[in-house]
Amino acid sequence: MARKKITIVGAGNVGAHAAVWAAIKELGDIVLIDVVEGVPQGKGLDLTEASPVEGFDARILGTNDYKDTANSDVVIITAGIARKPGMSRSDLINTNTGIVKGVTEQIVKHSPNAIIIVVTNPLDVMVYVAWKVSGFPKNRVIGLSGALDAARLKAFLAIELNVSVEDVDAMVIGGHADEMVPLPRYSTVSGIPIGQMISRDRIDAIMERTKKAGGEIVGLLKTGSAFYAPSAAVIEMAEAIIKDKKRIIPCAAYCEGKYGVNGIFVGVPVKLGANGVEDIIEIELNKEEKAQFDNSVAAIKKLIEEIKI
Ligand code: NAI
Ligand code: 2OP
Repeated sequence: MARKKITIVGAGNVGAHAAVWAAIKELGDIVLIDVVEGVPQGKGLDLTEASPVEGFDARILGTNDYKDTANSDVVIITAGIARKPGMSRSDLINTNTGIVKGVTEQIVKHSPNAIIIVVTNPLDVMVYVAWKVSGFPKNRVIGLSGALDAARLKAFLAIELNVSVEDVDAMVIGGHADEMVPLPRYSTVSGIPIGQMISRDRIDAIMERTKKAGGEIVGLLKTGSAFYAPSAAVIEMAEAIIKDKKRIIPCAAYCEGKYGVNGIFVGVPVKLGANGVEDIIEIELNKEEKAQFDNSVAAIKKLIEEIKI
């Protein structure tokens, strides 16, 4: 079987680290593309030189030319500017809309059958831009949100309980923003609801920390935003698609009626397989959870009204 081809647009922090995870997992050959000359080439070559040490077989090409990305199976868009201290994700909206639009046009031209995973912020709006500009069916455009946000929640729960991360499961839906909706009722340790192991006060504090987790890293780094967990999470999504694993991962998906949402992308539990978004799983939400989710949807709609595409 021929190797899959993965293009990563943007060879910055998230893009370059995504290339590392994808290479180590041998998901396929990787093309790293950026507007800056030399950087994708240098990082691609450097990663290639790591392959004998780690023992992975993958061709890694750094480039500034979309011709090299032709016929990719999966394209991950990380191109754009990242948050600096004091900036919200929506501050990025104008610059990144233009970038994602231009990138998507190139992807459509060179990889008309690809599945696109958008990382660029503000995520729920940028994935909408990519979908709209691409004209791709809704199953082939997805955004990174809950895979990262739930990973953060799982890490915090494992630390709180001093248990293995392998036994922790958690769900975060809604937009990839401070209005996201972590769901303690759907968070477990080896199937045990966390409410039986952690006090209400501590659960509330952990959920609050999860909502602000991106900002916590920005505050610490001062020169940019998180990249280890984001790049790992986007490659978790790519792996589910490339290996047709049919995993259930919360992602930003285009909703047409599910959760009462129509015509926008928002974080919901998704079945990810070879066809991209193969299903959206509708879980039961109580009144409080539904109100939080609706609030998050309203915030996304407001941002979408701001963009011109
Ligand atoms: P970075 O600044 O390290 O890298 C961005 C790269 O994009 C740079 O190398 C830049 O040259 C490149 N770029 C800019 N315009 C381009 C274009 N037109 N074509 C190709 N490349 C272009 O930023 P970082 O940390 O990698 O973050 C990237 C984006 O991902 C940001 O918008 C950030 O907010 C977002 N992000 C989203 C997350 C999510 O969960 N959805 C998590 C983490 C980051
Ligand atoms: C994060 O959540 C900035 O969206 C990015 O880390």
